[in-house]
Amino acid sequence: MKRVIVFLLLSAAIVTSCGDRPGRETILRNVDPRVDSLLRIMTLEEKIGQMVLFTSDWDVTGPTIREGYLDDIRSGRCGNIFNAYTVDYIRELQRVAVEESRLGIPLMFGYDVVHGHKTVFPIPLGESCSWDMDLIRRSASAAAAEAAASGLNWTFAPMADISVDPRWGRVSEGAGEDPYLGSMIARARVKGFQGSDLSNPLTVLACVKHFAAYGAPFGGRDYNTVDMSERQFREFYMPPYKAGVDAGALSVMTAFNEYDGVPATANAYLIKDLLKGDWNFQGFVVTDYTSINEVVHHGYARDDADAGVKAVNAGVDMDLQGEVYFNYLKGLVESGYVSQRRIDDAVRRILNVKAKLGLFDDPYRYCDNAREDKVVSNPEIKALSRDVARKSMVLLKNDSCLPFDRGDRIAVIGELAASKRDLLGSWKAAGEWDSISSILDAVRAYNGPANVIYAEGCKKMGTDRSGFKSAMDAVSQADKVLMVIGEDWDWSGEAASRTDIGVPGVQSELLQMIASSGKPVAVVLLNGRPLVLEEESMAADAILEAWYPGTMGAEAVTDLIFGQYNPSGKLTMTFPRNVGQIPIFYYEKNTGRPIYLPSDKYKSKYLDSPNDPLYPFGHGLSYTDFEYSDLTISSPVMKKGKTIEASVKVTNIGQRTGEETVQLYIRDLIGSVTRPVKLLKGFAKLTLAPGESKTVTFTISEDMLAFWKHDMTFGTEEGDFKVMVGGSSSELLQAAFTLVP
Ligand code: BGC
Repeated sequence: MKRVIVFLLLSAAIVTSCGDRPGRETILRNVDPRVDSLLRIMTLEEKIGQMVLFTSDWDVTGPTIREGYLDDIRSGRCGNIFNAYTVDYIRELQRVAVEESRLGIPLMFGYDVVHGHKTVFPIPLGESCSWDMDLIRRSASAAAAEAAASGLNWTFAPMADISVDPRWGRVSEGAGEDPYLGSMIARARVKGFQGSDLSNPLTVLACVKHFAAYGAPFGGRDYNTVDMSERQFREFYMPPYKAGVDAGALSVMTAFNEYDGVPATANAYLIKDLLKGDWNFQGFVVTDYTSINEVVHHGYARDDADAGVKAVNAGVDMDLQGEVYFNYLKGLVESGYVSQRRIDDAVRRILNVKAKLGLFDDPYRYCDNAREDKVVSNPEIKALSRDVARKSMVLLKNDSCLPFDRGDRIAVIGELAASKRDLLGSWKAAGEWDSISSILDAVRAYNGPANVIYAEGCKKMGTDRSGFKSAMDAVSQADKVLMVIGEDWDWSGEAASRTDIGVPGVQSELLQMIASSGKPVAVVLLNGRPLVLEEESMAADAILEAWYPGTMGAEAVTDLIFGQYNPSGKLTMTFPRNVGQIPIFYYEKNTGRPIYLPSDKYKSKYLDSPNDPLYPFGHGLSYTDFEYSDLTISSPVMKKGKTIEASVKVTNIGQRTGEETVQLYIRDLIGSVTRPVKLLKGFAKLTLAPGESKTVTFTISEDMLAFWKHDMTFGTEEGDFKVMVGGSSSELLQAAFTLVP
């Protein structure tokens, strides 16, 4: 018999504490009255059950729930499940929770819908290169619709971790190196996932992760120690998390790393003071996968129980798979290590989100087979995925090689050209690859099979050169060469750090051999991080960075290669010349001995490498050319609290219509602490026909000049500023103004 949740409609106490430590408190607004009614009748075990998140398994035979978990759902000891999807499976798990547990509290279902659910979009790093917030929002919204139509109501995304280290494999999941752009993207993705109404069954709860500073591990090695000044953290790493929270994300995931000597999953400063205190975060905090147990390995807790005390009292509301809350929390409350008040706070936060998801009105809200059939993999979502992929790709180099003409005889080379799986990248969610096109398939379909000669040439990994000869034979029969090289999909993402970020195996060797034939060679790159490409960029006539472009990626690559779409992506992460330059990013400081000083030796430089990167932040070519001119400032003086305008003329001086991303950077010349040589503060996208000019005007306001001053207050300082505008962080027109009282 269907059980009904018992609701005592008593007015809710809305002031709640974040834990035991005295300090800043969150005022939880608009708590659903049913939440406090429920809290009054829940046993301690049932409350702790809401703080537990367990994984389901997908194996070869299909979905299974781990042994014992069904009983835990039935007894109210597990209130949330992840890694389960499809309406039928989720409905069954929900039925057990709603109809067989004492209070019938619905489960929440999470999954890593990081860049699409069934229809996979480009990896987030690729998507960020579109610099198109509306597009990014729509891509997240489409992913949410597919996921929600498959029964899910929570995604573990967006990843808002800034990183300046391409050795770290998870840069593929982020939005690059820039805090301003990263913040805009975090906001767009949260808005896309959550929509304007969380109870809409085509939206899902977002989860901003990994809080905090997970993108800065020493040596780029995943899970490694992070240590940085608070100033560095606040200025460059914190903004995207805050932007995601300010955009309304109602869950936040802790990080695996430590911050300031304390594991993020037990870090009261991060969770209690900053997130729940200063930012007044309204949702709940979940650990990363067993990161609560890892507090012991970090050397911050004696055992799991001790880790539990430290995490829960730091403000962690939900334990993801660690079984620490499940096993120890009841005893910890009974013995006084954790207060009932802290438990109530955590459960109130979690239940309130469940209420907002509409699960108390209808626990089966996300379980509609007809909706699943209609929404999942529908043609509009696929068309959007193709469009996002086209706009994510970055033309790094083009010496009059691309676009190819339809009907050219093309040699297609490389294992990756024929690969389907690699197109999806890591975190492919429910994405399937059997039914999608490889780049080879798509090129054949567009160019005619008779005009395409394929040779694998070599594998993406390994040293086997036995295919080189057949590749050279294919090249000799062709007018032009399309070589697809890069990394295996599993070589970026989690636990995929590298010390050598060159193109693996003998792919580059084959490229150089092919280039020596004199035939025009265009390279398409499939990879999840900036790579070191010095040799490739000398050998190839054109390089198109396609990232892992998703379900429709092959068609999108073909659109660009043949000029059906004019490339418009711009890098959001610097491509170094060599690993020794890492960390490398455009917002460096000038130093006391900048490179431009006349001395030959005693300045900040390398003996064996230039300082500048191979491809800078903001770089990206088009099949047309843009000229920047006439940068003007509306006034050389800006009064505090007022605004001025910077205008620039952009002209399409090429032969094709194209889209350009006009970038605004500002430098504060002298401060109470040193400031970067430039910081992105705005951008505008515009489309120009051949010969057409447009004037772009940026409004510069005081908040764009603010920073964490020497006394750690956030604000501006009077003085001189430089304004820089251009089509990449390294090619900029300059003007100046002074901020006065
Ligand atoms: C990852 C998270 C992910 C979680 C759940 C962890 O290993 O770090 O990003 O959300 O697993 O799958």
